Amino acid sequence: MKTKRILSAVLAVIMIMTVMTACGEAKPEYAYDDEAPSLCEAYADYFNIGAAINSWDLTDETTDRFKLINKHFNTFVMENETKPDQIHPKEDTYNFDATDKFVEFGEKYGKTLRGHTLVWHSQVPNWFFEDNGEQASADLLVERMKEHITTVVSRYKGKIDTWDVCNEVLDDSYGLRLSNWLKIIKDYDGDGDRYDFIEIAFRTAHEADPDARLIINDYSLESSTDKAITMYNMVKKMLEEGVPVDGVGLQMHVGIDMDVEKARENMKILARLKEINPDFVLEVTELDMSCYGWGNNDLNIDFKSIEKEFNAKYVELFNMLMDLSEEGVLDSVVFWGFNDGNTWLNGFPVEGRTNYPFLIDADLKFKSAFWKVIDLPEKR
Ligand code: G3I
Repeated sequence: MKTKRILSAVLAVIMIMTVMTACGEAKPEYAYDDEAPSLCEAYADYFNIGAAINSWDLTDETTDRFKLINKHFNTFVMENETKPDQIHPKEDTYNFDATDKFVEFGEKYGKTLRGHTLVWHSQVPNWFFEDNGEQASADLLVERMKEHITTVVSRYKGKIDTWDVCNEVLDDSYGLRLSNWLKIIKDYDGDGDRYDFIEIAFRTAHEADPDARLIINDYSLESSTDKAITMYNMVKKMLEEGVPVDGVGLQMHVGIDMDVEKARENMKILARLKEINPDFVLEVTELDMSCYGWGNNDLNIDFKSIEKEFNAKYVELFNMLMDLSEEGVLDSVVFWGFNDGNTWLNGFPVEGRTNYPFLIDADLKFKSAFWKVIDLPEKR
């Protein structure tokens, strides 16, 4: 009799839940599994694991979105809101709101914070380079650059731990990119080299916060040995001249067809900068893995059809990154986003194309790659 009563109660609960789910009431906000072990804790012996976020990720601490990022990542960077066009749109206007909130969140939960970015050829307002309709002089641009860096870095002194001081200063033919910074500032001190804007940027950032880690960040360093060597040679010269560069950031916007062994070799080239500064580090700063191989412009691949290959490549990559951590050259791996629903790769390089580059899907569900990657440290 008692068993019968229990059975009917269970049946009733199941029926109510089915009806509620059908009405959309009992459905969780996302498919987020809050019992999954923490990704960053699993990697605690190797490196920090981070994510690029936007202010909307932080607006409500009760959401699954917030709980997920807070639990699984210990390092954060803003995807766009600390860039010059957002934080300093006009010469006399700074918008600190978004970065202030980001810093508040970081302090509250003890996160490592990255600032992206101080000097870049993109997402920088034109006013930096203009003077009454003419091109600004080198002196004026240097003055503006110093003012920008000093204001932003001092405001977050001791709070933003790491800065991407310069972003993407190399071009694709392995020289310095002909940005407005380079075109105008040129060889400012007349010593024969042309990376003066980089040098000034690092020295200014260091003055503003001597304890911040200062990074020079670029893409394709893992895939192009020529570019890695160009970066190595330039940073080596700067270190020998006493420029306070603390590390190289490898963005790592990679594809499912990436060559992990080549990436290892290129990272080892850059790691030789430790010979000049033993504290020199490498960071992975913008990791995402496109499901489409290089130059593959297929529209909307079925993720299931490449899932195994995707998982295997992530496993191979994380094993290599752990090797580098054991060799003492890498201590931070940051994803450029955290779930497939928000990635610059949705729409780039092919408009209207969906991509699936992360370990977490657009419904905040952990993909099979997440479970493969989170298991790796224990297996070593
Ligand atoms: O802020 C404007 C908004 O006012 C306007 O309504 C809207 C209309 O399109 O555009 C908004 O700006 C967009 C901005 O992201 C903020 O959402 C830009 O159009 C868009 O181009 C911009 O894209 C960003 C891109 O950098 C710019 O180059 C991506 O989100 C961001 O993921 C991407 O990040 C870069 C790293 O900083 C450097 N490394 C490469 C990486 C990927 O490109």
